[in-house]
Amino acid sequence: MSQDQRLRTQDSPNMSGNFTFTAMVAENQAQERIHQLVQELNRHNHLYYNEAQPEISDYAFDQLLEELIQLEKAFPQFVQPDSPSQRVGGSVTKQFEAVSHRFPFLSLSNSYSRDDLMEFDQRIQKAVTLPYTYVCELKFDGVAIGLQYENGLLKRAVTRGDGLQGDDVTVNVKTIRSIPLKINTEALGQTAIPETFEIRGEIFMTHKRFDEMNEARRAELLDLGYDEDQIRERLFKNPRNATAGSLKMQDSAEVAKRKLDCFMYALMGEGFGEESHSDNLSLARKLGFPVSEASRQCANLEEVFQFIDEWEGKRDQLPFDIDGVVVKVNEYAVQRLLGSTAKSPRWAIAFKYKAREAQTRLLSISYQVGRTGAITPVANLQPVFLSGTTVKRASLYNADYIAEMDIREGDTVFVEKGGEIIPKVIRVDTTKRDLFSTPHVYIDRCPECNTPLLRKEGEALHYCPNESGCPPQIIGRIVHFVGRKAMDINTLGEKTIELFVREGLLHDVADLYSLRAESILGLEGFKELSTKNILEGIEASKAVPFERVLFALGIRYVGETVAKKLALHFRTLDALMEADLEQLRATEEIGEVIALSVQAFFSQPNNLAVCRRLQEAGLQFVLNEEAYKPKSDRLAGKSFVVSGVFSVFSRDELKKKIEENGGKVLSGVSASTSYLIAGEKMGPEKRKKAEKFNVPVISEEEFVKMIAEHD
Ligand code: IVH
Repeated sequence: MSQDQRLRTQDSPNMSGNFTFTAMVAENQAQERIHQLVQELNRHNHLYYNEAQPEISDYAFDQLLEELIQLEKAFPQFVQPDSPSQRVGGSVTKQFEAVSHRFPFLSLSNSYSRDDLMEFDQRIQKAVTLPYTYVCELKFDGVAIGLQYENGLLKRAVTRGDGLQGDDVTVNVKTIRSIPLKINTEALGQTAIPETFEIRGEIFMTHKRFDEMNEARRAELLDLGYDEDQIRERLFKNPRNATAGSLKMQDSAEVAKRKLDCFMYALMGEGFGEESHSDNLSLARKLGFPVSEASRQCANLEEVFQFIDEWEGKRDQLPFDIDGVVVKVNEYAVQRLLGSTAKSPRWAIAFKYKAREAQTRLLSISYQVGRTGAITPVANLQPVFLSGTTVKRASLYNADYIAEMDIREGDTVFVEKGGEIIPKVIRVDTTKRDLFSTPHVYIDRCPECNTPLLRKEGEALHYCPNESGCPPQIIGRIVHFVGRKAMDINTLGEKTIELFVREGLLHDVADLYSLRAESILGLEGFKELSTKNILEGIEASKAVPFERVLFALGIRYVGETVAKKLALHFRTLDALMEADLEQLRATEEIGEVIALSVQAFFSQPNNLAVCRRLQEAGLQFVLNEEAYKPKSDRLAGKSFVVSGVFSVFSRDELKKKIEENGGKVLSGVSASTSYLIAGEKMGPEKRKKAEKFNVPVISEEEFVKMIAEHD
């Protein structure tokens, strides 16, 4: 019998009649099992994250973790401070406490050339006569952290802050799997470790996680009805920003999802008995800390240069960002002699790789008009090769950026590809400026429709207010309108829409329904068949149900889900148009922001006119009650969350089935959820929430059985 089976038997109704005794046995066994699970899980965690040599499957790990969480729930008195259950997060911090560092958190002085490094080396040679070597490490581009341990347990994680004081971000840092919650004292043998010590390092996010996170965020925002410009503004710019943002999140469960990573680079504190930095790193590794394999001891500057050159070439292959190399004197005896300034140690220096920048000519400045009317200035460049791609255009952000840097057409400029996706102009070489050049004059009219631009108080961007007459804005709205989840007119692509708008065939979405074959055939490249297809696609869209028409209108913040809620609540477009703020807000899941946006949309005469014309064209402006009439009341009063990938039905089909049978579909798991229908690849958070609220998790098959009688 396994430990946990025994435990369960003991837990079951007491047969002996001696309740206290049995309960005590159960308690003892629970404590023992908890202890065992914590040790086992921490070991597997280390094997997985620090050694990349897992011994058990993710599934088996999750099972053990689950067992531990359940036991801890039943016996909270035995929760250990190093329990891996703490890594899933859950506690919410309103404000991070400021704490003082025991040792000042110094930074590094920077160097940018071989000459700088030679000077650094000469300064050391002048100051000390002892022999010394260097250790070169990668300079990880993330957020610095100090981890404080007491009696082997992680007590506190503090950010660098101003060097003297930082923020206590312990709960968030505990979610980082490669950081040991308890250090591996067994691996030490005879070596004693101090009761308290600190280890410092850098927290970062891998490129893969960064991309995944931004993709997920993009999908979420798209679903909320944001357009590309708005989405771009809301995405994280680079992994470092994303890391900093994550560490300051209030909900540690959210931080856990970010899957941050880290490397440690210095054990601090007296009593380790190490005599050099390289030994210090080996010890840190032995204690179970994540220490990069990329460090190397170098006998002299030549070897340092070699390390720097080697990684300059290889840095693009790393799964995370580095911004240089750190060169440290290895021997502590020499480090002590050199000491530190108030800001940085004299025995270490950062060598910063040049940002990948290139010099080129700024041929012209042009302006793009986004779908919301936002104007962005763009630099058109003499094409230049920069870290793997040819750059022809770069961002100039806004009018202030151009004015502050005095960027002029014809200038010789430097462009840089930082962590950001779009290259930017970072400097002007004014020595190469043409004698007759003049400051750039920012446009005051829309380059597309000539409407005077607006700039709202406190905002960086100029806007074109001509929503109904400015081509890119019209094109954007029509592209959204014909989209797959909206009117699904897949015979009309973006290029065609753009052409039709530019040719004056389309001015708004309602014009689609008065398009005639004759006018399309008059355009180059359009034959009988393609024209017929387009018109048929448009005609077919007249059957698209009301809730999707509502989504297609492109009301800000009215995504697919909100459109459905509004359609179900108001049932006709007329009712929705007439609704006041109170009525809008009384709709399920509709808040102030959405309500205001809906009201603003229907208060504009243009929008009202377009809606009228769409109605006359025969679009569905009334809810198809039939489709929503429950086919059965089998699921009446029950609510479901659907998550993951399914084999028989699509997620949308499952949702439809729920509604057809009188059930309700919810977006997130809460205490009021009746069931969570779990498909493959369902996120672990949903499952955790379900467990937290005791919501039964069922499979697609089980769900189908529930409704089978009626289907
Ligand atoms: S040693 C006393 N080593 O660079 C010197 N720092 O200004 C302490 N960093 O944000 C720094 N990788 O967190 C050191 N291998 C490395 C590093 C490193 C990144 C960061 C550090 C701080 C900045 C130093």
